[in-house]
Amino acid sequence: MLPAPTARLRFREMTDADLDEVEAVLSAPDPARPGRRQRTRADAEHWIAWNRRNYAEHGHGLWVVETHDGRFVGDCGLTIQDVEGEPFVEVGYHVHLALRGQGLATEAAASVRDVARDAGVSHLVAIIRPENLPSQRVAEKIGLRLERRVFKNGGDALVFGADL
Ligand SMILES: CC(C)(COP(=O)(O)OP(=O)(O)OC[C@H]1O[C@@H](n2cnc3c(N)ncnc32)[C@H](O)[C@@H]1OP(=O)(O)O)[C@@H](O)C(=O)NCCC(=O)NCCS
Repeated sequence: MLPAPTARLRFREMTDADLDEVEAVLSAPDPARPGRRQRTRADAEHWIAWNRRNYAEHGHGLWVVETHDGRFVGDCGLTIQDVEGEPFVEVGYHVHLALRGQGLATEAAASVRDVARDAGVSHLVAIIRPENLPSQRVAEKIGLRLERRVFKNGGDALVFGADL
């Protein structure tokens, strides 16, 4: 499974060769969440390994998002997330700090939503911290709506979702 290319973007599986770019995306200071722990190179290594396991086990993970001329934009894709004891398919996205605010996350996430629907996913969610307004906006722009508030990974989280 791989999302369809969009006007500006294409998708591919993440590999160990993406470590520098993944580290840059994950470790960038996040203006929307200034108090968040800084991600390290080791976090980026685990991120790539986790996604490669997910491709093998589930047929999906977070895929690399790049422009058609090969510029690394970030990642976007599908992972399995526990919400109050029940597994859900989540759409996730991360965009390089320098490339935010151009609609790229929304463009990628819309294609990921469509591949999820085509693969038979009946309900898609995005689990987002209350202070992460840009991420909530992306979720809304691809048609997800606030469904519930939960406690996850040590903090409050909002669950956006939609039937596909
Ligand atoms: C969330 C993220 C992927 C968005 O990427 P992006 O390419 O900038 O997203 P888009 O340009 O498609 O859309 C962003 C929207 O958020 C809005 N936005 C940005 N900052 C905002 C803020 N402080 N308050 C409210 N809305 C904000 C933008 O105006 C835009 O909405 P609009 O099109 O209605 O104007 C990016 O900020 C990111 O990588 N964040 C860190 C990783 C992360 O939090 N991922 C999600 C985990 S749940």
